[in-house]
Amino acid sequence: MYQPEPFKIKMVEPITLLDRREREKCIAEAGYNPFLLRSDQVYIDLLTDSGTGAMSDRQWAGLMLGDESYAGSRNFYHLQETVQEITGYAFVLPTHQGRGAEQIIIPYLVRRGGKYVLGNMHFDTTKAHIELAGALAVNFITPEALDTTAEYPFKGNFDLEAMEEFIQEHGPDSVAAIVTTVTCNSVGGQPVSMANMRGAYALGQKYGIPVIIDSARFAENAYFIKEREEGYAQRSIREIVREMFSYGDIMTMSAKKDGLVNIGGILAVKEDEELFRACQALVVPYEGFPTYGGLAGRDMEALAIGLKEVVQEDYLRQRISQVELLGRQLQEAGVPVQSPIGGHAVFVDVGRILPEMPKTQYPGHAFAVALYLESGIRAVEIGSLLYGRDPQTGADGLADLELLRLTIPRRTYTDNHMRYIADSVIKVCAQKDQIKGVAFEYEPPILRHFTARFRLVD
Ligand code: F0G
Repeated sequence: MYQPEPFKIKMVEPITLLDRREREKCIAEAGYNPFLLRSDQVYIDLLTDSGTGAMSDRQWAGLMLGDESYAGSRNFYHLQETVQEITGYAFVLPTHQGRGAEQIIIPYLVRRGGKYVLGNMHFDTTKAHIELAGALAVNFITPEALDTTAEYPFKGNFDLEAMEEFIQEHGPDSVAAIVTTVTCNSVGGQPVSMANMRGAYALGQKYGIPVIIDSARFAENAYFIKEREEGYAQRSIREIVREMFSYGDIMTMSAKKDGLVNIGGILAVKEDEELFRACQALVVPYEGFPTYGGLAGRDMEALAIGLKEVVQEDYLRQRISQVELLGRQLQEAGVPVQSPIGGHAVFVDVGRILPEMPKTQYPGHAFAVALYLESGIRAVEIGSLLYGRDPQTGADGLADLELLRLTIPRRTYTDNHMRYIADSVIKVCAQKDQIKGVAFEYEPPILRHFTARFRLVD
């Protein structure tokens, strides 16, 4: 159903649409890589929902209450109390963003023992920290997630049987941690069910493996559980969130998503004081003194307030339904998208729009370039370009799916913007024969999608 925003707009930021000829020039100068565009050259920016949302007037007011003491800032205590209340975890460390928390906990757990870190589907930075620590990231996503047409309610779920088989085959001592990512970004912002989170935690308990909840989009996940899982319709979002966090030992959070702030992260430990002490000692050299961890006092205040706002049901209802509105408009026009629609983005299945284009011409990226040319919208490929080459063989074009992520910042764009986005994507699909693949002019050795330069292939 149509959900009006539970807020009104107090401040606006003008955006401009350059004309077609200017857009052609800008994208050529950016080496046909939308990451290299200046944001002023972009009309609607759907690159990410990370740190790009609007803060509330309460949060902006909170900035004025910033206590910039090096140690013991009052904003830290407000944040700590809020995280304790929402998650039930005893020990809280702020970090500069999500990967700040990952760089503390993942190497520590790998050093403690184990060469594998298992997950439903690790986010790129999580995978990078696992590999930098000398371990291997292994994913056990439910097979339905890889079929974008399968209407499965919890496509973020683990394939628990496959994960248990792996643990038995390789031995529990070889596993450093299990990471439950909610919602599962890499397969389309898809939720993990409570039953599945419980199951993953039960495996952790059975085999003595710690479970980390990567909780960037924890509130969106809770909303999907309330909507879709039997027995949760009458439970409050806060109750659901508490139960979700009970199925983990540690949580990392990129607060730039469901923290509703532009920068920030959290590392929290449920009850293991020894583990917390070890993390606290590591936070100092990597992030900062444990009561600020890379954040200004004012940022911690805005985050404490954001965490209380994000668990409000009317906020979540509008948030999820706006993303769904965009997805539905595309589905109704026959554009293939990951279904059901995820929490933070619509993932267009470009592999099905451009089946003839070789994966090594990066169809998702080619579509992103065409979309910018058509509309000034910036979106991002989640496919073979992002996936990168096989480190052993150098083989390319390996991703299961060639997707384009239309990521929706929180409380930022209106439903009219959604209509413009849908119309533009539909137009590009109608002219799909004119979409050109891309070839590298410059291919960086790691995380190549951020800084690569391309030419169009005729
Ligand atoms: N975990 C998940 C599931 C994420 O989506 C991200 C970031 C991180 C961890 C890392 O957090 O950026 O605060 O250091 N995702 C962004 C995105 C960048 O565009 O999806 P960070």
